[in-house]
Amino acid sequence: MPSLQSAIERFASLGEVEGNPEARKVFLEFRDQLTQGKIRAAEKINGKWKVDIWVKQGILLGFRLGELSKMGDDGCLSFIDKDTFPARRFTVDDHVRVVPGGSSVRLGAYVAPGVICMPPMFINVGAYVDEGTMVDSHALVGSCAQIGKRVHLSAAAQIGGVLEPVNAAPVIIEDDVLVGGHCGVFEGTLVRARAVLGAGTILTRSTPLFDLVRGHVYKATADGPLEVPENAVVVPGSRAVQKGKGAGWNLSLYTPVIVKYRDEKTDRGIELEDWLR
Ligand SMILES: CC(C)(COP(=O)(O)OP(=O)(O)OC[C@H]1O[C@@H](n2cnc3c(N)ncnc32)[C@H](O)[C@@H]1OP(=O)(O)O)[C@@H](O)C(=O)NCCC(=O)NCCS
Repeated sequence: MPSLQSAIERFASLGEVEGNPEARKVFLEFRDQLTQGKIRAAEKINGKWKVDIWVKQGILLGFRLGELSKMGDDGCLSFIDKDTFPARRFTVDDHVRVVPGGSSVRLGAYVAPGVICMPPMFINVGAYVDEGTMVDSHALVGSCAQIGKRVHLSAAAQIGGVLEPVNAAPVIIEDDVLVGGHCGVFEGTLVRARAVLGAGTILTRSTPLFDLVRGHVYKATADGPLEVPENAVVVPGSRAVQKGKGAGWNLSLYTPVIVKYRDEKTDRGIELEDWLR
């Protein structure tokens, strides 16, 4: 999409775009392509995730161009937001089940057929949610987050976005991952296919991930995010504080731990009820 990309980059670099009709036209085309999943904030090419920074620039352009407006039906709750990011309207042809009860998906988010959205949940702009994924109650899919096929985002799982606080790379959750209840995955963390995050696991750029099986410690680097390997089963753990003036206080710090790699027992434990789909 080189011409759309260069137009977005040009408007993003301009000091003043507010009220510029050409910029709005370009943005609306961009948002339409995002909503259809034709462009993405990050894409896997030959096994490597490539982040397209211009997509985030396009989203920020939408916020700059947007004007506050009243949205939604005249029900008991009224909504005021930037007119560039209204809520998405689904049709039966989209084949996405949105169960009634306080959920919202912004335009500019791609949601594939077969996705189930349990209320309340929120999918932000630029997010890409692939086929067969379950977004359970109180789950958040942050801006530009890339969620693979058949992922289970369990109740209250929080997938951070790239807009606030500003991060360069989106969180990526690959195919067939289970994100357990109350997990938090933030700051560009990459969770490889079929990994399982046990309930309550928190992953950020600053959390080292201890692998008990391989005897390795995974960390984010200056150029790369924290990566959870394929099939890893991660649970919330703790490690003793060994340095600093308070080293003798018997404190421990939270740390995620890989306790095993996925096996039949794990699969049985997280099996999903097909009839609910
Ligand atoms: C991670 C999980 C899937 C268990 O996987 P499993 O493959 O069955 O794990 P196992 O029972 O073989 O446990 C392996 C080891 O990790 C420990 N462990 C397992 N789950 C743990 C957890 N959540 N926290 C801490 N330790 C845990 C076990 O005690 C065991 O250690 P041990 O061998 O020293 O006793 C499960 O704990 C979990 O969190 N499931 C998600 C629940 C959830 O959020 N569901 C939402 C649906 S809405």
